[in-house]
Amino acid sequence: MTADIKIGTLISGGGTNLQAIIDACKEGSISADIVFTGSDTPGVRGLERAQTADIDTFVVDYKQIIGSCRAKGIADADLPEDFNLAEIMEKQKLVDPSDEQAQFFLKSRAIAEKQLLDRILAYDMDLLVLAGFMRMFTPYFIDRINTVPGQYRIMNIHPALLPAFPGTDGYGDTFRYGCKVGGCTVHFIDYGEDTGPIIGQKAFEIADTDTLEDVKRKGLEKEWELYPACIQKFADR
Ligand code: GAR
Repeated sequence: MTADIKIGTLISGGGTNLQAIIDACKEGSISADIVFTGSDTPGVRGLERAQTADIDTFVVDYKQIIGSCRAKGIADADLPEDFNLAEIMEKQKLVDPSDEQAQFFLKSRAIAEKQLLDRILAYDMDLLVLAGFMRMFTPYFIDRINTVPGQYRIMNIHPALLPAFPGTDGYGDTFRYGCKVGGCTVHFIDYGEDTGPIIGQKAFEIADTDTLEDVKRKGLEKEWELYPACIQKFADR
């Protein structure tokens, strides 16, 4: 019998994946306990789901933080003390170092990420599970969760069969491309966009008569099976 792993969860919305994980923990079909649910958005349904299951919740309001950075500008004193822009730029090869917008992106996200880390690191946690969390993490955040070199500790679910269709609208991109098969992927987070090592995937057929709504429904049903199975794979490692 594997000892239960402690998982933290982050969401942005409805939280149907969170619900599947809550149910799997409760039924004992996975050896895991959820120690918190955090959200980047206040008032979302996923927070209610967590509260109903007696899970600690918190919100770090990204929209408010980024809006305030935009309105006031970002002074050095606003940044986390251990923030090093050059180091983060070097690691996150996605951004052009001379681009001011990219610099604003990394600085404003690091301010939000510091607040998230202050909440998250108060818990004893083995794995951080992104269950419909719609924000990208910078290396500032990732390095403070993945503290053992080579050991990934942040898991994400993506609504497409990676490496096809990374980005924010996996099912939409799959549907509009005219794919006859869609799917979902659970992977670890690295510095790239949806590029980290794949843990598991599930596929489904797309009929010629299927609408985008059908594709999303079929995909979510697969996600609810896949995510708990991948968490269990981590627990069994
Ligand atoms: C899911 O389809 C998940 O794959 C996707 O958001 C949805 C969340 O649904 N995640 C991403 O696109 C991450 N980039 P849920 O809130 O009902 O679990």
